[in-house]
Amino acid sequence: MNPNKALWEKGDFTEIAAFMRQSGEAVVKSLGITTPLRVLDLGCGDGTTAVPLALLGAEVVGIDIAKNLVDAGNKRAAEAGLNKLTFQEGDACNLQGVSDHSFDLTLSVFGAMFAPKPFDVAKEMVRVTKPGGRIVMGNWIPNDPTSFVSQLLKISSSFMPPPPEGFISPMTWGVDTHIIERFGQAGVPKEKISMVKDTFYFISPDKSPTQFIESFRQFYGPTMNAFEAAEKSGTVEELHNQLVELAKTQNKSTDGSTSIPATFLRVTVNL
Ligand SMILES: C[S@@+](CC[C@H](N)C(=O)[O-])C[C@H]1O[C@@H](n2cnc3c(N)ncnc32)[C@H](O)[C@@H]1O
Repeated sequence: MNPNKALWEKGDFTEIAAFMRQSGEAVVKSLGITTPLRVLDLGCGDGTTAVPLALLGAEVVGIDIAKNLVDAGNKRAAEAGLNKLTFQEGDACNLQGVSDHSFDLTLSVFGAMFAPKPFDVAKEMVRVTKPGGRIVMGNWIPNDPTSFVSQLLKISSSFMPPPPEGFISPMTWGVDTHIIERFGQAGVPKEKISMVKDTFYFISPDKSPTQFIESFRQFYGPTMNAFEAAEKSGTVEELHNQLVELAKTQNKSTDGSTSIPATFLRVTVNL
């Protein structure tokens, strides 16, 4: 089994996506889409951005490596009567079957950054996007204390055995030099790439930060793996405490619920 696929099919990411809907909609709104476009949402999950894109009238193809999330996305599309929105299984490292220059916009919000071969990912995103079109990525930022998921993953991985040799951290997609190098190898000059910091919110009106972390423990593949490793090494309580402390410190809500702002790098490539 492909470990990248196994990681994201583990648990149930739809439970985490539920905290991300508002900001997903805000990201889509901020794209300023005014004409009907053909959009690829890469690493789309169950449609946090794909559904609002389709509601704007775009024809949207969501591609994701996790079968359970593709199924959940297609169910959401059917329930919302969105017949120009389809979800399909695929790997951002190799979008075989997707035609060259077939999308006006390729969007990937915390999706393609998790694919293991970043140079191939950049090449594929450029290949399938039309000349004159754009690629927009949302990426977590390493070593930024306000980039919540990057901190959560840093804590999680410190409880796990080291990754296999040759593993490239997804967080490198949050570093300008890597982005320029990857798109550069795909033939895009750096003048065509812009990067700006933005904020994404994880919102749960009915969960405390402790309950919010419990959801990651139960449903989010990378955190589930960290707890499994911590069980073996007898460090579960320490892992739990560090994650709860992170959520509590980042939480901006004062009524017992959870609202965590998370800084991310928004990358726009104008082809
Ligand atoms: C953090 S989730 C984000 C999902 C969605 N974009 C959202 O904002 O809710 C990461 C997503 O990337 C997908 N993914 C990871 N590696 C992938 C790959 N190689 N190709 C396509 N999708 C991938 C996962 O299955 C998962 O749905």
